[in-house]
Amino acid sequence: MADRGGRPRRARAWRLLGRLAVVGLVAFVLVQFVPYGWAHPNPPVIADAPWPTPESAALARAACYDCHSNETEWPFYAYVAPMSWFVRRDVEQGRRELNFSLGERVTDDAAEAVADGSMPPRGYRALHPGARLSDQERDTLVQALTVLEETTEGADGGGDGDAGGDEDHSGRGGGGEDHSGRGR
Ligand code: HEC
Repeated sequence: MADRGGRPRRARAWRLLGRLAVVGLVAFVLVQFVPYGWAHPNPPVIADAPWPTPESAALARAACYDCHSNETEWPFYAYVAPMSWFVRRDVEQGRRELNFSLGERVTDDAAEAVADGSMPPRGYRALHPGARLSDQERDTLVQALTVLEETTEGADGGGDGDAGGDEDHSGRGGGGEDHSGRGR
């Protein structure tokens, strides 16, 4: 092809690429030393949510449990920075919002999040084929979560100020919202 200075330019391009590759590799190695993401804790299961059917339990395990239970199956990339940081953060935030392992009340937020397609998150679905729910599976899970909302009524694992007056928070939708780190 064109000989006009093509050679040196190409050589320079390769040299630059090589340098970028080295810098990238060094950065990748260094980033592994950041301790965040090293730990992959699965605290004890206090009480698994009382799923109404084995099918719904299986769906929830496939679609929710990695982030919303203490039975996370940490994938290999949870051990490799920087992906490990995102996985760890998802699990931390997810467990804080809703943890099926603690015998806590399951609010109607859960059924809603599945019905409107915001849960499981898109990025998770991309990496976990088992979490891609068909319409029918989604309906099944929404129904099960609605049942859970009733069967876990009053079961408030944290017992945060529930001394007697259950009626007080009948306007549930609001209660949970206050501290959800939803600013994304
Ligand atoms: C990849 C991890 C991940 C998976 C899988 C996942 N979630 Fe979440 N979930 C999160 C994170 C992180 C938050 C908190 C930040 C936010 O709201 O986006 C959250 C928040 C929530 C909330 C509270 C806020 C809201 O949107 O109402 C509910 C309810 C919820 N998830 C339900 C579910 C259910 C049910 C499933 C399974 C169908 C599921 N999630 C699957 C990570 C996950």
